[in-house]
Amino acid sequence: MDCRAALPAHDTDTAFLLSWVLVFSDNKFLLFEHFIFTTISNQRKMVKLCGIGAGYVGGPTMAVIALKCPSIEVAVVDISQSRISAWNSDKLPIYEPGLENVVKQCRGKNLIFSTDVERHVQEADIIFVSVNTPTKARGLGAGKAADLTYWESAARMIADVCTSDKIVVEKSTVPVRTAEAIEQILAHKSKGIKYQILSNPEFLSEGTAVQDLLEPDRVLIGGNEGPEGQEAIKKLKDIYAHWVSEDKIITTNIWSAELSKLADNAFLAQRISSINAMSALCEATGAQVSQVSLALSKNPKIGPRFLNASVGFGGSCFQKDILNLVYICECNGLVEVANYWKQVIKVNDYQKSRFVQRVVSSMFNTVSGKKIAVLGFAFKKDTSDTRKTPAIDVCKGLLGDDACLSIYDPRVSADQIKKDLSMNNVQWDHPIHLQPLSSSSSNGLEHVDIAEDAYEATKDAHGICILTEWDEFKGIDFQRVFDDMQKPAFVFDGRNILDVGKLREIGFIVYSIGSPVEQWLNNSVNSAVPF
Ligand code: NAD
Ligand code: UGA
Repeated sequence: MDCRAALPAHDTDTAFLLSWVLVFSDNKFLLFEHFIFTTISNQRKMVKLCGIGAGYVGGPTMAVIALKCPSIEVAVVDISQSRISAWNSDKLPIYEPGLENVVKQCRGKNLIFSTDVERHVQEADIIFVSVNTPTKARGLGAGKAADLTYWESAARMIADVCTSDKIVVEKSTVPVRTAEAIEQILAHKSKGIKYQILSNPEFLSEGTAVQDLLEPDRVLIGGNEGPEGQEAIKKLKDIYAHWVSEDKIITTNIWSAELSKLADNAFLAQRISSINAMSALCEATGAQVSQVSLALSKNPKIGPRFLNASVGFGGSCFQKDILNLVYICECNGLVEVANYWKQVIKVNDYQKSRFVQRVVSSMFNTVSGKKIAVLGFAFKKDTSDTRKTPAIDVCKGLLGDDACLSIYDPRVSADQIKKDLSMNNVQWDHPIHLQPLSSSSSNGLEHVDIAEDAYEATKDAHGICILTEWDEFKGIDFQRVFDDMQKPAFVFDGRNILDVGKLREIGFIVYSIGSPVEQWLNNSVNSAVPF
């Protein structure tokens, strides 16, 4: 065995001693050459990490750590048997470009997926917690505050099973000062064990998670300011230092790290609501939102990213994290600040309802009994995730007007789409095994069909709604689609990905978010109705 393989690559204070060892075997004394490695630092054994929560964050994050730190043992654990089985199979539970390759390189070597949560937590030196933190559905703070049930139960389990000192890392997005509550839970049952809590929020985006983890723009680590806190920060920093340059690793106090994550998501969502607000004004004035975005992007003080107008932002985090921020502001008596952030969500809801309104009003004020093809259901391209996707609200809005939907998404399963459309709004961000197994037909889904491809979805349709910006949709043969549709044939591009000029040449009546509106559409009723 090469002992050096068991040490972090950057460990410089390790010494290898060669010695001779006398062993009595088979009635003979044998002299063995024997390597003993000693270390001047405390690094005496292989570092073991445990990631609690094998979801969109826990799975890819721990897999990339395993890839970049072959000398570290990584166990990813979850209470969901089906998730863990999928991580151990050829079909991973989440779709992320490049993830399969990373997992295949490490799984069974220094990366394992297991439901034996307690054993791996007990054995680990550092525990990363990436469990769900959804919006609270009931009780105090319902509809805004973060529901820390899953975090708390993970913390209680850690307190119950641990028999040695641990570093506990918050990877989940949590309200500022969560570490304090976790510390209290752990301290209450500490049995003399010392815990250091660190905040190490995750900034990955779905669809580019592996790339974001391999080349992060920053790694943020917050910890206590005392010597033990600083030592814990250093240990976590040393792990990231295997592949992230030091200038990208920011260390702060723990509250700043927790709040920075909420602020980060709030700023990003605010930018989307800002450009979406502009898109409404563009439609009213004849300006073109993509041209306005381009002009803004050239201002170095603004920058080019997150300026794409859309049917609204989705995803598991933006809305819940802003609501969480709003709740924290309210709890601190900062009503004006809370109202400021609330507006970001209001504009997002307005954008979705405005889109539905545009579809219905353009099609002679009724979509009752009309087939509408919905292209794209995921909350963005390159992911199979549908949590809080704007497609849910748009589809529900259209179904509310008695439309017949034919939905196609390259990555989202039929069952997932039906589940999402029949599910209560508050269930979507809880662990998968707590969600309904499948949709029930009694939930108004009689008018929902799931198509195998874009051509099947659009055949005989009256209109098409583009709700996710999948690259595949740009390559559709729209002449063929037009020929197979009812006339007049409408396209409503909620992602601004299609060539409006070409579509109009073919004969479509086209609406594209934030673009000058055709005379036909302009004449239609144009007032937004909230959901
Ligand atoms: P997820 O639902 O995909 O994964 C969470 C996992 O935790 C689930 O598999 C669930 O079964 C498991 N779990 C819950 N309680 C557990 C417990 N007590 N013990 C063991 N396992 C448990 O959620 P996610 O998208 O990975 O998000 C997790 C956290 O990371 C959230 O706080 C989220 O805000 C944050 N976050 C998410 C993203 C993202 O892109 N999805 C990015 C950054 C941060
Ligand atoms: C977002 C953040 O970008 C990550 O930094 C953060 O770690 C993560 O949330 C999280 O905490 O969960 P993600 O939700 O995966 O990542 O995806 P984004 O690329 O941010 O897109 C979010 C939504 O905004 C999508 O619906 C997307 O289509 C929409 N969007 C994005 C726009 O409508 N316009 C844009 O210009 C950009």
